[in-house]
Amino acid sequence: MKLAVMTGGGDAPGLNAVIRGIVRKATANGDDVIGFLDGWRGVIEDEWMDLDIDTCRGLLTQGGTILGTTRINPFNVEGGVEKARKTLERWRVDALIVLGGEGTLACTDELYRDGFPVLGVPKTIDNDVGVTEMTFGFATAVDIATEAIGRLHTTGESHDRVMVIEVMGRHVGHIAAWSGIAGGATVTLVPEFPFDIGEICESIIRRHHRGKYSSVVVVAEGAVPAPGTIELPDRERDEFGHVNLGGIGEIVASEIAKRTGFDTRTTVLGYVQRGGEPSPFDRVLSTWYGVEAAMAAHEQDFGKMIAYQCGTMTRVPITDAVAELKYLEPEIYEVARTFFA
Ligand code: F6P
Repeated sequence: MKLAVMTGGGDAPGLNAVIRGIVRKATANGDDVIGFLDGWRGVIEDEWMDLDIDTCRGLLTQGGTILGTTRINPFNVEGGVEKARKTLERWRVDALIVLGGEGTLACTDELYRDGFPVLGVPKTIDNDVGVTEMTFGFATAVDIATEAIGRLHTTGESHDRVMVIEVMGRHVGHIAAWSGIAGGATVTLVPEFPFDIGEICESIIRRHHRGKYSSVVVVAEGAVPAPGTIELPDRERDEFGHVNLGGIGEIVASEIAKRTGFDTRTTVLGYVQRGGEPSPFDRVLSTWYGVEAAMAAHEQDFGKMIAYQCGTMTRVPITDAVAELKYLEPEIYEVARTFFA
């Protein structure tokens, strides 16, 4: 059989480890593998590379994706779907494995219904793909954010400052909540639960009265103030219709400084969370996803997404996985809230 792989959307640590897992298992199954370049662009424009054990040497730990990635969607390109279909037919691709987040997977599902032999692997540091308990890349992002929070604690304590850190999380607060709990944050703000800045300032003031003069506030980039509290500026959208987020950390910090009078600083962690090598946990998870995807492709189990559930890998319809974003569970947010001073 001939398998193809592509990576779409924002990159995540572990993409290369998944590719390596796919190639190793496919080779063991007697299948050949090619990789399309730059997400759907490579499929539409017929640009790809051969993938074999030699190409994949050293990929387990390497950050980014050797295939490149874009947010190009064949449904938004003139003749994109037909061009993609022709490319797969031209090279007699029997199965295309798509490594992507909710946007890329939703498009993959539509292509499946159009007759494409596709299957998906859930990728995103945000961990917001439904049905699977964990996407690859999330654990590494949490490690990085946790380390940053730890560093902010020591500099904040040295200067008696409130340290605000903005982490990724466009629609969901998984990174914020997990790193906030792991890093011992005072306050954690997430998109799912609008925050009351007055309540946050009161808790930081109470903390100061107790003799604790520094605090770390973790803010997910998509966190939103409760209605009637802070007015957010209008935000622009990028060419793919995504709202340009960023800036909420600075807004929260300036409100805290204004309302409490405490010395406050902001750090925007940004793309550091996505770059670089995957953690040991993500190396295992990514390799496992890759091996299972190669098996599913070999068995022509199309329209499925590999999902991590109850400590093992399983296959679910992509339709179910993209039906709804996986939001932060209220229970885990309650754990984070326990530490609001
Ligand atoms: O979806 C993952 C993510 O890292 C989000 O947390 C973030 O908002 C977004 O990608 C940024 O992506 P880009 O700037 O590459 O479009």
